[in-house]
Amino acid sequence: MSASAAAAATDSPSSSSAPRLQGKVALVTGGASGIGEAIVRLFRQHGAKVCIADIHDEAGQQVCRSLGGDPDVLFVHCDVTVEEDISQAVDAAAEKFGTLDIMVNNAGITGDKVTDIRNLDFAEVKKVFDINVHGMLLGMKHAARIMIPNSKGSIVSLASVASVMGGLGPHAYTASKHAVAGLTKSVALELGRHGIRVNCVSPYAVPTALSMPHLPQGEHKGDAVRDFLAFVGSEANLKGVDLLPKDVAEAVLYLASDEARYISALNLVVDGGFTSVNRNLKAFED
Ligand SMILES: NC(=O)c1ccc[n+]([C@@H]2O[C@H](COP(=O)([O-])OP(=O)(O)OC[C@H]3O[C@@H](n4cnc5c(N)ncnc54)[C@H](O)[C@@H]3O)[C@@H](O)[C@H]2O)c1
Repeated sequence: MSASAAAAATDSPSSSSAPRLQGKVALVTGGASGIGEAIVRLFRQHGAKVCIADIHDEAGQQVCRSLGGDPDVLFVHCDVTVEEDISQAVDAAAEKFGTLDIMVNNAGITGDKVTDIRNLDFAEVKKVFDINVHGMLLGMKHAARIMIPNSKGSIVSLASVASVMGGLGPHAYTASKHAVAGLTKSVALELGRHGIRVNCVSPYAVPTALSMPHLPQGEHKGDAVRDFLAFVGSEANLKGVDLLPKDVAEAVLYLASDEARYISALNLVVDGGFTSVNRNLKAFED
């Protein structure tokens, strides 16, 4: 299975239930692949009109084509590090679909792995922060521009298990994801008085173009996604369940929907308990 096939998989139980985003308008940054693509597909299944904002034009157009030229899906070229791009993407969604109810700040990168801090490339650190932190803050800013006059809205950002624990990614990535969790709380305070909810989702490892290159060399056996799932499964707390992009999309769907109407400033960790338990404690093993 390829990463794009994993992102397109939609056999989750809620896919067939009543639409939960009917009449809503959403913008998903980084919606052209991986977790963002799975969010776009699940949001469409639940009745939302969706704007995909991504730097990867061909992949974004391909998602639109794969949805059969659906008139309720729009692709906009957008580099989240460029404020004008985010501003224009938000305006394009609001002009085409009438408003903006849901902003998903999903675009992110890991940056290079550095095993010795003395070799840290500061330009690389700034690049990670530009996309993972500044891009998400700009997404919050321009979503708020549309949402405040409406006195409602839901902003969901993709953090990571690296937002609550060290050692799960490069230093800059870990710092950037802690920053996303902090931003979520800070902006939730300000926007709460306008009826706008601000949350983030923190997944454990999901097979995508971002994560799969980090599979240790010795773990490559032939099928990229299967090898990745086998490796992260061996490290996981919850056994017998593979974490896929659609599982993360389900968490984002919940926070975006009215079912979560009193949930704000939450970091919803989707990790099967990975960051909450001591996996070295053998007391409960046979
Ligand atoms: N995959 C995982 O294991 C995992 C785990 C925890 C958190 N996350 C987070 O989930 C989010 C999505 O990750 P993914 O695994 O789906 O990655 P991915 O690489 O599959 O997709 C990321 C998307 O973001 C786009 N993008 C990158 N830079 C951009 C920019 N400057 N402007 C606009 N779009 C840009 C890419 O073109 C791509 O379509 C990220 O924030 C990531 O940190 C991923």
